[in-house]
Amino acid sequence: MTRMGNVKRETSNVKRETSNVRQRFAEVFGGEPVAVVRAPGRVNLIGEHTDYNDGYVLPVAIDRSVLVAAAPRDDRQVVIHALGFGESATFSLDDIEHDQAKTWSNYQRGVAYFLEERGITLPGLNAVVVGDIPIGSGLSSSAAVEVSMAYIWQVLAGFELSRVELALLCQRAENEFVGMNCGIMDQFVSALGRRDHALLIDCRSLNYKLVPLPTEAAVVVADTMKRRGLVDSEYNTRRQECEEGVRILQRYLPEVQALRDVSTDQFGEFKGQLPEKVRQRCRHIIYENERVLRGVAALQASDLDTFGRLMSESHASLRDDYEVSCPELDIMAEAAWKVEGVYGSRMTGAGFGGCTVSLVAEEAVEDFRAQVAATYEEATGIVPQITICRAEGGVTEVSPR
Ligand code: GLA
Repeated sequence: MTRMGNVKRETSNVKRETSNVRQRFAEVFGGEPVAVVRAPGRVNLIGEHTDYNDGYVLPVAIDRSVLVAAAPRDDRQVVIHALGFGESATFSLDDIEHDQAKTWSNYQRGVAYFLEERGITLPGLNAVVVGDIPIGSGLSSSAAVEVSMAYIWQVLAGFELSRVELALLCQRAENEFVGMNCGIMDQFVSALGRRDHALLIDCRSLNYKLVPLPTEAAVVVADTMKRRGLVDSEYNTRRQECEEGVRILQRYLPEVQALRDVSTDQFGEFKGQLPEKVRQRCRHIIYENERVLRGVAALQASDLDTFGRLMSESHASLRDDYEVSCPELDIMAEAAWKVEGVYGSRMTGAGFGGCTVSLVAEEAVEDFRAQVAATYEEATGIVPQITICRAEGGVTEVSPR
């Protein structure tokens, strides 16, 4: 598939999806939406579970997204119709509570809660939400929901928030309202992604650098179709284990604030002080941060072999040391490693299901599809979904008003 082909497909998809969401808005609420925005999901090329350790990540905003069509109301009621769930949720901005039944609406409620908490008086609104990021696939549907919601309110109410502030507010909504203790990566790249680029994000300073994606290789996402299970509880446990590692290492290295501050040499010297599981978790994070930086240098030198090798090492580390992979992800990654023209392949996102990401030479993409799908289906009985991803821009208004 040529790049040109991708561009055309992308443009017509956006047009189709936008007119679809406008039409659905008219059906549900009558009349036209005042604005339509689109926030992308993401695939992370390398740097997994490093964000909440103040480390480095290298995600790409992708051409799968959440669209919101909305119009303000005269009162303080928010009515959100989620096409994927076939239902609406209603709440008042004067009394934003957690919804135990329609848990999908807690993302929007959380965003509204923290915008209001900042002193921004929001208008009520009617909104239709639709997306093509499968929930639990590791492609950050929740961040796209949060960012699209925050942004449509920004468009409608016209308040001043930078994109970084927007991302931080959405992360806060997820941490403190939804109750998932995620890092900043997903919201950040959904807000600030750039077409044809990955973002090297320093999750401590929140500085970032655009890294052009290679033109001679494709980013291929292979969905195991296994939806992650344990993720929230296991995710929070991993965070605690990392924090325990920091507390112990601080006894020997008082300047250490987070695992980001520990070099591989220092780890080698003091790892004997750490309980075994904590040692494994720390080893993953400390070496993963190094892999991200080496990976970026390799991409900038067009050394795709090195970048791919680092991706595959990352997978092994997530499987063996961080223990967040699962049989389906391992089978998918291993199947990819065997295909000629594949530079590297790894699980992406929090883990326990979802997708792998692979860097594949353009001319090998069709072999990849055929061979990986066949091997995976034979081993699991499940037909995977394999797609080429385009690196998209961050959240944007898509429809002229
Ligand atoms: C989830 C979280 C992110 C990040 C990844 C793992 O996607 O939302 O903040 O921690 O897991 O890298």
